[in-house]
Amino acid sequence: INLGETRPDVVKLGSGERTQEVDYASGNRGSRVQVYGRVHRERKQKGLCFITLRDGHGFLQCVLAGDLAKSYAMQILTRETSLMIKGEMWEVPPGAHAPDNRELHADYFEIIGEAPGGEDAITNRVQEKGDAQTLLDQRHLLLRGEKASSVMFVRDAVEHAFNVKFHELNYIKVAPPALVQTQVEGGSTLFNVPYYDDKAYLTQSSQLYLETVLPFAGNCYCIEKSFRAEKSLTRRHLSEYTHIEAELDFINFDDLLTHLEDVICGVLEIVLGNPRIAKMLQDLNPDFQMPERPFKRMKYADAIDWLREHDIPNEEGQPHHFGDDIAEAAERRMTDIINRPIFLTHFPAEIKAFYMKKDVEDPRVTESVDCLMPGVGEIVGGSMRMYDYEELIAAYKREGISAEPYYWYTDQRRYGTSEHGGYGLGLERFLAWLCKQHTVRDTCLYPRYMGRCKP
Ligand code: 4AD
Repeated sequence: INLGETRPDVVKLGSGERTQEVDYASGNRGSRVQVYGRVHRERKQKGLCFITLRDGHGFLQCVLAGDLAKSYAMQILTRETSLMIKGEMWEVPPGAHAPDNRELHADYFEIIGEAPGGEDAITNRVQEKGDAQTLLDQRHLLLRGEKASSVMFVRDAVEHAFNVKFHELNYIKVAPPALVQTQVEGGSTLFNVPYYDDKAYLTQSSQLYLETVLPFAGNCYCIEKSFRAEKSLTRRHLSEYTHIEAELDFINFDDLLTHLEDVICGVLEIVLGNPRIAKMLQDLNPDFQMPERPFKRMKYADAIDWLREHDIPNEEGQPHHFGDDIAEAAERRMTDIINRPIFLTHFPAEIKAFYMKKDVEDPRVTESVDCLMPGVGEIVGGSMRMYDYEELIAAYKREGISAEPYYWYTDQRRYGTSEHGGYGLGLERFLAWLCKQHTVRDTCLYPRYMGRCKP
């Protein structure tokens, strides 16, 4: 039996080593089952011992009575002890409460591994109101808690939903390399790694490789780690993050924006269609609402005006001017006030990456988009790509990048170029928004950022 099964009378027992079924019974007294798990909570009351058992699939209340409850093992039982219990499934009595309205009446148990009590008890190692650094040091134990683990379950569901959505759209998934010798998003955030007698970097984005997939496979995507040597400690920057990137061929900028809306909303629908995950999301983020479509579209130049009108200064404390990089704090304030997803578009070429296509109607700006979400700010960065050979060569020059290592990227413009574009979505930021988490450090298994590379 998996503890996540909600109807114990009909659970399919007998498959796999964890589910050695003894016999099906009818009526209120359900099947005999054998379960494995860890003590999530325990309480002793009137000669009974109540254990909330956790096995990753769900929670199950187990009731031990008589000699079992009086046993020494039960007297010293601590949270996180792992054990096996055999018994019979009952509905909980009227007025009583238990997960999924059922309980296991035990007639046998075996302790598999004890857990410390006292000073070293898990509740002392991981205190809900402990300071952030201590909690990160204890993350391996913190993850056993309901909140931290729910975020991991939602994360799994979201990643799965992106795969489903992209395959519905007929996009091929590819696996670009992590060790590279080209930059994508500027030299300042590259991690250098020795590579035999040569030098390499950890990839900042798989975009350039995805562009090379278009001519042989059409629209494509990947879900890979990206690495950024970010030297600032913010609540939305990691050194290693999961980057969901897609590239679309023979499109225009408007197609790109419509596709992004479709993917984001499609993924949310798939995720919310899973009852267990929907319940977790309800607990994590009770105010969550499906974004309204179309998303608000706002040009960078209009955002600058908006920030001036709302007296939100730039990083120097001055009113914003065209050409300013809109800093994280200002961006988040604007997004929080507008309080709905925003496609911020047409950023000036100087503040964006070398490969972005210019807007033919206003060559000061690029066909670029950031998708901003309340509470987090930017979760997606995308653009149309330069598809003209000469323009790309000029862009390398302007940025002081040697064209030589990029020959394979440049060749896309020589061998049958096309109007194309794509984007990257930071999974941890998407989750921070969806699960209403203060920081991306809580939306990955073990966060990496400046100053932390453990556990
Ligand atoms: O805006 P960025 O830098 O865009 C690119 O890398 C493009 N080459 C992607 C593409 O077009 N294929 O990053 C894209 C997204 C950001 O919007 C953000 O969500 C996330 O990646 N991101 C980070 N997430 C966590 N920590 C960091 N240090 C991040 N840097 C970017």
